[in-house]
Amino acid sequence: MTNNRTFTMIKPDAIAQGNTGAIIQKITNSGFKIVALKLTKLSPEKAAEFYAIHKDKKFFQELIDFMISGPIIAAILEKKNAVEDFRALIGATVDPAEGTIRNLYATSISNNAIHGSDSDENAVIESTFHFNENEIIQY
Ligand code: CMP
Repeated sequence: MTNNRTFTMIKPDAIAQGNTGAIIQKITNSGFKIVALKLTKLSPEKAAEFYAIHKDKKFFQELIDFMISGPIIAAILEKKNAVEDFRALIGATVDPAEGTIRNLYATSISNNAIHGSDSDENAVIESTFHFNENEIIQY
């Protein structure tokens, strides 16, 4: 099932600001089918593991502190060309395009409302990090 699934997290800032419903609506209106979904809170250890690729970056501790500051919503989404289309929907980390989710709801480069996998390979790794196979719905 390559090329048709991506992984997302609605981040603590978006949830705290009451933007969860609007973001999920925008995702489903854009043709993504939710096949797994959970409200959860990352432990410091889990957050550091998820973002291990950034462990040498200057912003690493800021990123971890932010990601454990409140609940997140983790989800697996299905659509043809899911990774690329979802990254277009959320917008870039820096200067997201007008109308994208980050353009509408991010408040800083760190507090950027939403995550989207950057490759099919990472979509699988990140989905497996948060969900068991039996938590993924087959419609
Ligand atoms: P995301 O692309 O989902 O995954 C890496 C995260 O690190 C990114 O979202 C931001 O939340 C954060 N990030 C990236 N660049 C910076 C930066 N320069 N300063 C602070 N946080 C950053």
